[in-house]
Amino acid sequence: MNEHTHILLNPGPVNLSRRVREALLRPDLCHRETEFTGLQAGIRAGLLGIYDLPADDWASVLLTGSGTAAVEAMMTSCIPAHGKVLVMENGVYGERMTRMATLHGINHLALNHGWADAIDLARLEEELRYHEEITHVAVVHHETTTGRLNNLQAIAEVCSRYQAGLLVDAVSSFGAEAIDFSGCNLAACAGTANKCLHGVPGASFVIVNRTAMQDMQGTTPRTLYLDLTGYLEQQDQGGTPFTQSVQTFYALDEAIRELEDAGGWPARRETYRARMRMVSEGLHEAGITSLLPEADSSCVLHAFHLPDGVSYRELHDHLKTHGFVIYAGQGQFSRQIFRIACMGDIDDADLRRLISVITEMRPA
Ligand SMILES: Cc1ncc(COP(=O)(O)O)c(C=O)c1O
Repeated sequence: MNEHTHILLNPGPVNLSRRVREALLRPDLCHRETEFTGLQAGIRAGLLGIYDLPADDWASVLLTGSGTAAVEAMMTSCIPAHGKVLVMENGVYGERMTRMATLHGINHLALNHGWADAIDLARLEEELRYHEEITHVAVVHHETTTGRLNNLQAIAEVCSRYQAGLLVDAVSSFGAEAIDFSGCNLAACAGTANKCLHGVPGASFVIVNRTAMQDMQGTTPRTLYLDLTGYLEQQDQGGTPFTQSVQTFYALDEAIRELEDAGGWPARRETYRARMRMVSEGLHEAGITSLLPEADSSCVLHAFHLPDGVSYRELHDHLKTHGFVIYAGQGQFSRQIFRIACMGDIDDADLRRLISVITEMRPA
């Protein structure tokens, strides 16, 4: 039995383990002191360690800000002025990357798909063949809008054939899904502390390929705060350009150790898969259907059709009175679906209770 007032089944922030929560109480620290240098170095190494990345080839850049900060830092810091990015859109977060490119005047094209659709590899290849000027492809790994796990491996292989650097929004997958960093032109990957890593909101990061970042050296940054080249230079020397959220970093540090102790990302994926299987089977038995086929879904979150005659608001409020927080569909899906994520310090008993509360609910 856990100690949470609400069981958070939204896609982050997550319920914290006691161990991570207690890390918030470590001693106050100045971000210009050696203790902070040690903390930062430990987290940077720990993040690389999750996917066994060699520090000669890869670096983690730590930011204070939510996942969007990391994605925007990646988009603005990894595409040179003469470059052009092709953005894969099949949900809110892909479309958000296009918006970032537009706002920052980055030369781009968008490959739009329906929100429930898989990325069309043939169309991707066609665009890359036709537009030789494309230098980068940006894609969301787990499109949280629907729970779809985009086929990163296949997308990466197409990008490799056309020497396009891959920029990945892994905000809702880093730490729980497979990410193949080797030999696939992956230039950078953005992640956050408070989803699959089970840390506290406010810290995010970009894992950058050091060789790919060399193309950006000496170029004028597009933003002051989110310039990854500046962060990388200073963090490699133990510093930081701006004040970091020290307590959030403490929590991330502990969360990474907790993940290691639990068996790393493969073990976390298994845990999430077992949780999602339990929820899906329970809801399917009650006639509540999934938006996507199981094989297309992430281990982190699934989207379900709202039960007949029940609005999202009714379902949400009913569950909240029983101690559960679920998540609405966005945009075109807001009246059709609800979403359940299974990250964080929750246990199977919570999920069994969730299923009974949902299945026993009757339309008002
Ligand atoms: C895939 C993806 N990218 C980016 C974000 C934005 O993260 P944040 O809300 O932490 O800024 C989210 C949030 O859920 C997400 O799921």
